[in-house]
Amino acid sequence: MDKILVLNFGGQYDQLIARRIRAAHVYAEIRNYNKITPDEIRVAGYRGIVFTGGPNSVYDDTAPRCDKRVLSLGIPVLGICYGHQLLAFLAGGEIAPAETGSEYGKTTLRAEESVLFADVPRESVCWMSHTDAVQTPPAGFRVLASTAHCAVAAIGDDTHKLYGVQFHPEVTHTQYGDRVLQNFVFRVCGCKGDWQMDDFLETAVAHYRQTLAGKKVILGLSGGVDSAVAAVLLHKAIGDALTCVFVDHGLLRKGEGDYVEQTFRGRFGIRLIRVNAQERFLTALRGVTDPEQKRGIIGEMFVRVFEEQAVALNSTDVLAQGTIYPDVIESGKGDSATIKSHHNVGGLPKEMLFRSVVEPLRDLFKDEVRAVGEKLGLPRELVWRQPFPGPGLGVRVIGEITEEKLAILREADAIFRETLDGALSPLPNQYFAVLADTRSVGVMGDARTYGYTVALRAVTTDDFMTATWTRIPFDLLEQASNRITNEVRGISRVVYDITSKPPATVEWE
Ligand code: XMP
Repeated sequence: MDKILVLNFGGQYDQLIARRIRAAHVYAEIRNYNKITPDEIRVAGYRGIVFTGGPNSVYDDTAPRCDKRVLSLGIPVLGICYGHQLLAFLAGGEIAPAETGSEYGKTTLRAEESVLFADVPRESVCWMSHTDAVQTPPAGFRVLASTAHCAVAAIGDDTHKLYGVQFHPEVTHTQYGDRVLQNFVFRVCGCKGDWQMDDFLETAVAHYRQTLAGKKVILGLSGGVDSAVAAVLLHKAIGDALTCVFVDHGLLRKGEGDYVEQTFRGRFGIRLIRVNAQERFLTALRGVTDPEQKRGIIGEMFVRVFEEQAVALNSTDVLAQGTIYPDVIESGKGDSATIKSHHNVGGLPKEMLFRSVVEPLRDLFKDEVRAVGEKLGLPRELVWRQPFPGPGLGVRVIGEITEEKLAILREADAIFRETLDGALSPLPNQYFAVLADTRSVGVMGDARTYGYTVALRAVTTDDFMTATWTRIPFDLLEQASNRITNEVRGISRVVYDITSKPPATVEWE
């Protein structure tokens, strides 16, 4: 199977590169620049390497730089933005702040005849976002494109198959971005484009069958699609050496614990243990209001509960998790900024009983995970379930978490979901209620009330990295609001969240 290595130098939308390449049926793997050596790259048999963008300047002391030997492995390289500058820098070119200042947004690209721009018109629109620029290309490199503000917008050394583009081919604003990436992958690297999700599955199952042979694995099952897919995949690889532990932390939605238990116990023939740990979690969270602290506590407590189960089962080799790629990037792994510590990544305590952690889906995006789930034969309603965060209602009760607030939120959330289910098509990709830490005055039956504010949140997105708030018809919002205020005691106000991501995140905490 042809593989492309996406070498990550930081930045938030680098994942798009891997996604675009995979969309062309070539498998792309993302690794941080400092987590893989030139020898490992060579042995892994990549057909090509893409250097991603990143926020640094190549001359900064702290600038992320890979080993120069990566350029002499005989593997084609495509540098993008910072990656373009780094490639030029490593090959002996000169980089400096752009003379005309930073260039940001759409601009006209003038491309020269070259394999990288094959079937790209001489003039097209590209998307730029940079402060530095390559001033002098390294010896052996030709300038392949320019813009009004950037004389060296693309470079190439056909002999060594090294290319760089200052613009971002991975974003849709670049008119022929896909073409440029595909020219690199097919024409320069010679990939065939025959990768399918089946290949991912087969390779992953074979890989875990081999690497986990003789080991016992504990997997934290949440009932969401990610951990469910990870569970069924690992079960295919190692059968009964896998035990799933479902922790009811008291922060689940209405009826959720029983749903998870019913779905998994028996259905897939997977060993499942349900741990009722509501009291422990709520006690540990008492008085805590800071979102990152909540996430940390919940993440740590999860692992401790798993550990106890693992000890009881004499199974402390491996902890498996359903971490997916956006969890990794948003938790600030590598060099990108921490947005929030997803409990299954950033919340892992440093000291753990488990000897290793396995995350079979950590390179996949949500839609890819769903495709794997379907291939594995998981039921549709499970595969297409809206995501529910590991910390659960803990990050949807703003401020201190109490049983009273959880009970109010559970009811309001169930009503909102019931209102939309069946009434809206397509459904938003995620829709839920949040209990704000704000009380407000209301009037009911001539009497004053002083209850909580519930916020309804619904977003439309395909990868949860960016999202727009869903335009729900007013009458549905009204139905939800009426039912919530009538049926749930303790709520005097319902509001609808009309913030997209960015600038907001999907969850409130
Ligand atoms: P945010 O709030 O980061 O959410 O915009 C993006 C998506 O991730 C889900 N989410 C989580 N999932 N553990 C998870 O497994 C977490 O800690 C976590 N935090 C947020 C969120 O529900 C949305 O689908």
